[in-house]
Amino acid sequence: MAENRRSLTNFFFCSCVFALTLWNNIKLSDENEYIANYSSSLLEDHTVYETKGLPLSHTKRPQFVSADNRINTWDVVRNTSDSLELSNISENEINDLIQLLSKLSKTSSLRNLTLNNISVAWENFIRILKHVWPTSIEYFNIYNVRLLSNIERKNFSYSGTSMKALTVKNASVEVFYFNQNNLYMIFSEMNIAALTISDSKLIHMLCPSKPSRFHFLNFSNNDLTDLVFQGCKTLVFLETLILQRNQFKKMSKVCSMTREMKSLKHLDISRNLLYYDEEENDCHWVGTLMKLNLSSNKFTDSVFECLPINVQILDLQNNQIRTVPKNITELKALKELNIAFNRLTELPGCNPFIGLELLNIEANSVLTPSSDFFQSCKNIRKLRAGHNPFTCSCELRDFINFEKISGGRLVGWPESYVCEYPDGLKGTQLKDFQLSELSCNTTVLLVVVLVITVVLVAVISILCMYFDIMWYLKMMWQWTQTKRRGRNSHPEDPQNILQFHAFISYSEHDSIWVKNHLIPNLEKEDGSVQICLHERNFIPGKSIIENIINFIEKSHKSIFVLSPNFVQSEWCHYELYFAHHKLFSENSNSLILILLEPIPQYLIPARYHKLKALMAKRTYLEWPKEKSKHGLFWANLRAAININLPVSAKVSGVQTD
Ligand SMILES: *[C@@H]1O[C@H](CO)[C@@H](O)[C@H](O)[C@H]1NC(C)=O
Repeated sequence: MAENRRSLTNFFFCSCVFALTLWNNIKLSDENEYIANYSSSLLEDHTVYETKGLPLSHTKRPQFVSADNRINTWDVVRNTSDSLELSNISENEINDLIQLLSKLSKTSSLRNLTLNNISVAWENFIRILKHVWPTSIEYFNIYNVRLLSNIERKNFSYSGTSMKALTVKNASVEVFYFNQNNLYMIFSEMNIAALTISDSKLIHMLCPSKPSRFHFLNFSNNDLTDLVFQGCKTLVFLETLILQRNQFKKMSKVCSMTREMKSLKHLDISRNLLYYDEEENDCHWVGTLMKLNLSSNKFTDSVFECLPINVQILDLQNNQIRTVPKNITELKALKELNIAFNRLTELPGCNPFIGLELLNIEANSVLTPSSDFFQSCKNIRKLRAGHNPFTCSCELRDFINFEKISGGRLVGWPESYVCEYPDGLKGTQLKDFQLSELSCNTTVLLVVVLVITVVLVAVISILCMYFDIMWYLKMMWQWTQTKRRGRNSHPEDPQNILQFHAFISYSEHDSIWVKNHLIPNLEKEDGSVQICLHERNFIPGKSIIENIINFIEKSHKSIFVLSPNFVQSEWCHYELYFAHHKLFSENSNSLILILLEPIPQYLIPARYHKLKALMAKRTYLEWPKEKSKHGLFWANLRAAININLPVSAKVSGVQTD
C-alpha cells in the first residue's frame, strides 16, 4: 500500500464547547463511589444506532481530581448513571483515562461514553478502544480527535463486546506518512452494527474481509471517491449507507458499489458531484433499495434512466433536471418524489409513478402547471408547488380550481403561490387572481360574440328596412358627391345662383294637369315667372339624380304635386327627399305641397315616412274640385313662389306678380 501524503488539517471543534448538565464531584481515588454512581438504573433498549447530539448548555469548566491528586483539566460534561462525557483530554492524561476505563466491566451500567476534544497517539487510541470494547458501553462517541503518532498496524480482538455504535466525528491525523490501510482496517473489521466516521477528510475505506455485522454506515462529509466499496461482497447486512458530502462522481460506480449489498434499503449520496452518463449504460441497482437521496448533485434528465426499480422515497432536489422524460421505466413503488430546486418547466405527470403520494416541485421554473397532472396523479396526497414563477393567465385557472377542490392537498397555499408574470400581476397571490369564465372559455366567448352580432345585425336590418336607411345613405352620398363636384369644378359658376322660381315635381301620370293647369297659371306670358320642369330643363348627359339636385338647388321653391301616382314614383320620392334636405340645410321654407287627389294612408309605402310626416302636418294646398275656388288656389300658389330672382343669363328682369 502506497504511503499517503495527505496534508492534515487541524480540526477545530465543529460543535462548540460542550457544557455541563450534571456535575458530581467525582474523585478518582474513590472508585467504588464512582462506579456506584452508574449502578442505579438499567438502560432502556436503544433502537437508534446513532446517539443524538446531547442537549447541553454552557457552564463553567469544572476540574477533575485524579488519583495522585494531580488536577486534570478534563471537563466532565455529562455524568448520569448511563452516560459519561469527558472533554479536553491531552496525550499525557491518557493513562488516567485508561485507568478510569479499566474500572468498567461488562456489568457496569454505563452505556454511553463520549470523549470530546482529545489528542492521542495512535497506539493509545487503540488502547482506549481495547479497553472500551469489552465493557458495558454500547454507544461510544469520539469527537474532535487528533491522532498524533505514526499509524502502525495493530492487532485488535473484537470479540465479546456490547458495543453497538461507534461514532468518530472530526478526526484528524497529525502525521504525514502512514499506511492508510492500518487506519482503515481497525474500523472496517469492527463487529458492530453502526459505524460513523464523519467530517474527517477520510479518502477511503476498506471492504470488510469477512461478512460484516454493519447495519448502518455513515461516512458523511469526507473525501470518499468512486473507488470505495467497489465489488464489496461482505456488507451483506448493511441497510443504511450515508455518503453525504463526499467526492462521488459517477452514478454507474455508485450502482456497482451497492450491487452486492443485499440488504441495502437506504442510500444517502446527496451533496456529491454525481451525474449519470447514458453511454455507460451500467445501472443495475440492488432490488432492496427503498429510499434514495440524490439531492444536491449534478444530475440531469438522464437520471430517470438509472433509478432503483423498487424505490419508494426519492430525493432529487437541487439538481439540473429540466423535464421528467415520458418513456422511462415505471417506478410503481414510488410514493415520495422531491424535485424541488431544479429547472422543470412543467409539472411532471404521474404516468411512470402510479402510486405517487407526495410530490415536491417547489422553486422550479413552472409557469403554468397543466391540468393533466391531476388526471394522471390519482393518489397524490400532498403537492408542494410554491415558489414557481407562475404566469397568471387562463391556463392557470385549472390549477387554482384544483386547489379549491383539493381539500388542502396543495402545501404552502396560499402564501407560496404568487404570480410572476405578467408584470402587472407580479406579486399577486394566486388565490386573489380571478378571471371570468367569459374571458377564458373560447367557446363561451364565441357564442356570446355570435349572439351579440346576430342581434345587432337583426336590429340594424329591421331599422334599415323600417326607415329605409340604406336609401337615405345612398341619397346622402349622392348629395355630397354632387355638391363636391359642383364646388370643385366651377366654384364661381353663375348657375349656382337661383335661376327658377319653382321646381315642379310630379308623376308622369299627372303631367296632363301640370301642363294644362299648373304651368299656364303660374307662368305669365311675359316670362317673369321661371318654372323648372324636368322634361324641359334637365341637362342631358348628367345623371337624373344630379339633375334633380342641381335644379332643386337653383330653384327658390319646390312644388310637389301629390297624388296616388306620385307616391308610386321612385323619382318623385328622390325629388322630395332632396328638396326636404335643402329645406333643412338652408333652413328656409322652400317646400310647397299640392295635394291633387287625396292619398289614402295605406298607399304611402312605409319607408316614405318623410312624406307621411309632411302629410300628417297638413301643410299642403289642396286642389279644389269646385271651379269657383280655382282662382283663389292659383293666387295662393303664386304668392308662395313670389320672389325677386337675381339677374341672370336667363332671367332678364325682376318682376313680381
Ligand atoms: C436528502 O439529503 C438532504 C441533505 O443532503 C436532506 O436535506 C434531505 O432531507 C434528504 N432527503 C430525504 C428524503 O431524507
